[in-house]
Amino acid sequence: MRVPGVYGRLCGKKLNPRLQTIYDTELPLVDCSEAFLGQESTLIDPSTPWWMEIGFGDGIHLRTQLQRNPHVHFLGVEVFRPGIAQCLKDLSQNARNQLHIFPHNVHLLMPRLPKTVIEKIFILFPDPWPKYRHHKRRLLQPEFLSQCWKVLKDEGKLIIASDVIPLIHWMQNNLLEHQGFQYVEGAYSSDPLEWPAWPCDLTLSTYGRKAVHKTYFIWKKCLKQMHV
Ligand SMILES: C[S@@+](CC[C@H](N)C(=O)[O-])C[C@H]1O[C@@H](n2cnc3c(N)ncnc32)[C@H](O)[C@@H]1O
Repeated sequence: MRVPGVYGRLCGKKLNPRLQTIYDTELPLVDCSEAFLGQESTLIDPSTPWWMEIGFGDGIHLRTQLQRNPHVHFLGVEVFRPGIAQCLKDLSQNARNQLHIFPHNVHLLMPRLPKTVIEKIFILFPDPWPKYRHHKRRLLQPEFLSQCWKVLKDEGKLIIASDVIPLIHWMQNNLLEHQGFQYVEGAYSSDPLEWPAWPCDLTLSTYGRKAVHKTYFIWKKCLKQMHV
């Protein structure tokens, strides 16, 4: 399979010395790259709850979820090195035990994950790529949805947030057309007048805090259509 590139602000940005030290000393303690890029991985025990956040930015949402859900293992995926370092700053030992970071392109990880092991996948404020010629860079392509379908447990959830109306419309269309997911709650249309209130258990990420009009939607894996 062709691995799509990572576009936009990138990993290459130089870190200030403090963040560089955090990155160099803390990341190796939670880095799960080898577990997934080497031989077949046994890191995930399907009898324990595993959640995943793709593109966690500086990790504000991820860290809150770690704190609120001490029984959950969290797989965080991000390529932006300053964000990874921020996320790892002053992390407690408990949180460190729960956290597994894959600091590379998510498209390298998805095919290596075992089937039906993840309970929830959070994708908060994915890059919108507004120009038509860049739509192919958007994350929730049909093939990516099939990969999410494969790794999610039965009835596992995709939790998505955005403030970009054309992107919301595009993502919801892709979810509908895929047929392997069923709407659960949140926005069902891209019309802001029909958006429900922001749920209090979904912590606002940094992009979420900046967004004036924003919404979320949750779809769950359904078994009616075998889509992989
Ligand atoms: C618009 S930002 C949102 C960050 C965060 N979720 C928030 O709401 O504040 C999108 C994030 O996704 C990350 N990202 C984009 N494509 C990615 C990929 N293929 N693999 C891993 N991370 C990716 C970017 O580095 C960026 O930090």
